[in-house]
Amino acid sequence: MQDPLAQFQADRQLARDAGDPMAHVCVLATVDGRGYPQARTLVLRNVVHNNSPRLALFINANSPKWAELANSDSACVQVYWPSVELHYRMQVQTEALDPKLVAESWQFRPVAPKKMDWLYQQHAQSTAIADRKQLLKQLDQLVVPEPLVAPDEAKGLLIRVTEIERLDLTQSNGVHDRVLHTLNQGKWEQQTLVP
Ligand SMILES: Cc1cc2nc3c(=O)[nH]c(=O)nc-3n(C[C@H](O)[C@H](O)[C@H](O)COP(=O)(O)O)c2cc1C
Repeated sequence: MQDPLAQFQADRQLARDAGDPMAHVCVLATVDGRGYPQARTLVLRNVVHNNSPRLALFINANSPKWAELANSDSACVQVYWPSVELHYRMQVQTEALDPKLVAESWQFRPVAPKKMDWLYQQHAQSTAIADRKQLLKQLDQLVVPEPLVAPDEAKGLLIRVTEIERLDLTQSNGVHDRVLHTLNQGKWEQQTLVP
């Protein structure tokens, strides 16, 4: 059986080659303090950790999703690539990515998101602010370190996949191919699911 994560990467490359804009992103779903589901789009990054390719997310520790991930054992990551008609759904756990790698990668961000990462210290991400004018004013008046470096709250999270489901919509007979891979004591087990 092919490693489902290797298959994920191969499928993602097909989507990238097809110019699929969705190939760069995912939806991360968590549960908030009220028990309500929360989902948001994030860039899904490929990083190398201990010489192995891994999936990762880059987020700010002042954001609601950070606390939601910290308060739960599990989250869900989903992607759909229309160009190749493939859908993946994963149960994941997260662990901290080496801060050095985060700091290096952060330098490649455009200036505005870099400054936003510092602004979140005053106004946490996703909190309300008077209006956009006020936001731009505060951003303009923001004192940032020179040279501009990543704040400690700029975090990277490695994704550890515990379950991964591949749904292939390309079958000529119209019956989708749906396979669930579950990690059991370090080994992937495979089940076919009714699509
Ligand atoms: C295409 C796209 C990519 C995004 N990538 C990221 C990302 O990599 N990291 C991030 O924190 N937010 C990213 N966002 C913003 C998030 O969707 C979200 O609005 C923000 O992180 C606040 O989420 P929260 O309130 O659930 O914490 C992206 C949004 C879009 C539309």
